[in-house]
Amino acid sequence: MKDKIEKPEPHILVIFGASGDLAKRKLIPALYNLALQNLLPDEFAVIGVGRTDLSDDEFQEKMHNAINNFGKREKHEEKINSFVNKLFYVSLDTSNASEYKKLAERLRTLDEQLQTRSNVIFYLSTPPMLYTVIPKYLSGHGLNKSSNGSRRLIIEKPFGYGLQSARELNRDLLQYFDEHQIYRIDHYLGKETVQNVLVTRFSNGIFEPLWNSKYVNRVEVTSAESIGVEDRGGYFDTSGTLRDMIQNHLMQMVGLVAMEPPSSFDSNSVRNETLKVFQSLRPFELMDIPKNVIRGQYVESQIRGEKVNSYRHEKGVAENSRTETFVAIKFFIDNWRWGGVPFYIRSGKRLPTRVTEIVIHFKKTPHWLFGHYQSEGEACNQLVLRIQPDEGILLKFAMKVPGQGFNVQNVNMNFHYADLQNAYVPEAYERLLLDCMLGDSTLYTRGDAVEKLWEFIAPIQKAWDDDPLIPLYGYPAGTWGPESADDLIEGMNMTWRYPCKNLADDGQYCEL
Ligand code: BG6
Repeated sequence: MKDKIEKPEPHILVIFGASGDLAKRKLIPALYNLALQNLLPDEFAVIGVGRTDLSDDEFQEKMHNAINNFGKREKHEEKINSFVNKLFYVSLDTSNASEYKKLAERLRTLDEQLQTRSNVIFYLSTPPMLYTVIPKYLSGHGLNKSSNGSRRLIIEKPFGYGLQSARELNRDLLQYFDEHQIYRIDHYLGKETVQNVLVTRFSNGIFEPLWNSKYVNRVEVTSAESIGVEDRGGYFDTSGTLRDMIQNHLMQMVGLVAMEPPSSFDSNSVRNETLKVFQSLRPFELMDIPKNVIRGQYVESQIRGEKVNSYRHEKGVAENSRTETFVAIKFFIDNWRWGGVPFYIRSGKRLPTRVTEIVIHFKKTPHWLFGHYQSEGEACNQLVLRIQPDEGILLKFAMKVPGQGFNVQNVNMNFHYADLQNAYVPEAYERLLLDCMLGDSTLYTRGDAVEKLWEFIAPIQKAWDDDPLIPLYGYPAGTWGPESADDLIEGMNMTWRYPCKNLADDGQYCEL
């Protein structure tokens, strides 16, 4: 990983599924943001590939609108025009091998015209069933290798639906591309605040000495969304929160929180360390699942006076669906650093607010001197790493209430990214696309890590599939999920943190 930002080599980025949602909402606006910062190579082009018949001009116009509609940075007409001039389009049926000739031809002429030195990235923003088809046909036309340039492949999750299909996918991809050419996106790793977990831990002398089982009582990771499944019911109903959020985003954050310091900050060293965390996850026995993994599904309720549908009434969702929209898990990492420290993670849709955060709960002092404290939880210092929104860091510690006696109260010390002057926080896709052009895969997930995580998740999937008696709890939309998720956390009055949108507003009921 390079600490200085540099401009990548000349490149052509081929986006399969270019007329889809991801391209217009995320990828094209992210590339435009890179252009604004002068971080795209001077010799650069995008080839959008899709089934829809579009001319270059039509594609450019669509992407122009996409930047206007979804871009979050300043929109200069002139700059947008000069950026979209670098966009081209090839219409082809990706499931038909012979049609790739058109792409090969377009790549050859653009490469010659623009002098992009044969560096090509193929971005598969397509349904997962094409993840093995496209690489195979690219390889059939010799596009997966180049004697003078680099060839890379970016794929989006899901990387399989379970352990076996993940292994098959890796095996298939490796027939056509080498592991070092494959960039698996987990967009959480592209988030500035997720990367800051590493900086908080490894560039401060004060946290890391305490970052272990001697001083940490438990670790909590929450990723809550207030929205439901919106128009993605069809996809979500075949996925569920375990596959959609836990196996990837939440566990990747656990990897960064729990890893050992890498020997250096390069992609192999960093990813070797997160892999070791995943290798140390204590495997679940089937009989442990009901006690340690809670699943829920939202049911109809009223949020701020408005009726909200149950999950089963969302578009594209089966009427009798048993797909989970909430998961909470308690697990252990059996290694020297974390032996005996419980990790609690949860994620869900239609929760009270949109928030992602990591909370380190430190152990209480060995001996309490100052009268009574309200709960065991109160006596623990907490360090909250807020991923989104109101990005920042919060440390909760005890102080003397001014006045007579020695009454103790918890107070907040907080830092908000928003307070930084001129701090531009890039979008996740910006960072990830730039890193791929620079050939830096540190923030991409490696095949072995993906498989390890599926291994951890597999017994949960099996238990749910095999045992219909494992409850799927209903929770009213707009609440923090099933009550039984609270029972996962042991200890006198210990609970999850119930965060609000604003980092430091806590201990109140927010946005219910
Ligand atoms: C995606 C999931 O990977 O992440 C979605 O498929 C989810 O279901 C999204 O809404 C959350 O991402 P973010 O960046 O909004 O927290």
